[in-house]
Amino acid sequence: MLEIKGLTAEIDGKQILKGIDLTIPQGEVHAVMGPNGAGKSTLSYVLSGREGYEVTGGTATFFGQDILAMEPEERAAAGIFLAFQYPVELPGVGNANFLRTALNSVRRARGEGELDAVQFLKQARAAVKKLAMSEDMLKRNVNVGFSGGEKKRNEILQMTMLQPKLALLDETDSGLDIDALRIVAEGVNASRGPNFSALVITHYQRLLDYIVPDHVHVLADGRIIRSGGPELAKELEADGYAGIIGEAAEAA
Ligand SMILES: Nc1ncnc2c1ncn2[C@@H]1O[C@H](COP(=O)(O)OP(=O)(O)O)[C@@H](O)[C@H]1O
Ligand SMILES: [Mg+2]
Repeated sequence: MLEIKGLTAEIDGKQILKGIDLTIPQGEVHAVMGPNGAGKSTLSYVLSGREGYEVTGGTATFFGQDILAMEPEERAAAGIFLAFQYPVELPGVGNANFLRTALNSVRRARGEGELDAVQFLKQARAAVKKLAMSEDMLKRNVNVGFSGGEKKRNEILQMTMLQPKLALLDETDSGLDIDALRIVAEGVNASRGPNFSALVITHYQRLLDYIVPDHVHVLADGRIIRSGGPELAKELEADGYAGIIGEAAEAA
């Protein structure tokens, strides 16, 4: 489904991704862990088509389509969703309007009818309730004045409503207290199924107690140096990255 081969990318002439190989089959949730500055966010940005990142080699296909050649909005229409590590604030843009516009453009791309304001609000309210968010977050401007935890929940709200085929979640757990973490994880778990895959970027094993991944990958210095099952996350929590990075360096 998502197939990344030999992907290299740079920012401002600095090479960040140094050859990423990663396949996420349909229906699977994969976690990516790794030290700060490893290139985890860069990987999610490159896949979603953010400006300023130059792909210098390799391929990335999504259901056989070359996503690297697609515009960001075409990637979204194809079913790729990115939840930002640092969600952007959009002063002057109402959260509900923003969501409805995003949802309707994805629905158009899928050949589904657009939702009118009433239909949309019904769905949005149900989703807000599930995520234990306050309803007035729909009325506020996108992320403006939201706490860190509220921003993260808002990302999951978007994901819940857009029903992507592939969700890229970049440290959606950071800044969340335990209760919020559980709610966010439940939001992700509720989306799980044969038509949903996710790449979950996280620093903490804790999130993976709630969102149990099919596979865990360790990204360090622009490369995936180790892959394994959920037990790999536990090993990292106990031993840190140094051991694994050292082993990878010796093997190279
Ligand atoms: N705009 C930029 N210009 C130059 N270097 C950058 C820029 N953005 C990120 N980097 C560098 O790219 C590397 C990878 O960053 P990032 O993908 O955010 O890592 P991670 O998410 O794993 O912590 C870091 O060394 C960071 O300093
Ligand atoms: Mg990051």
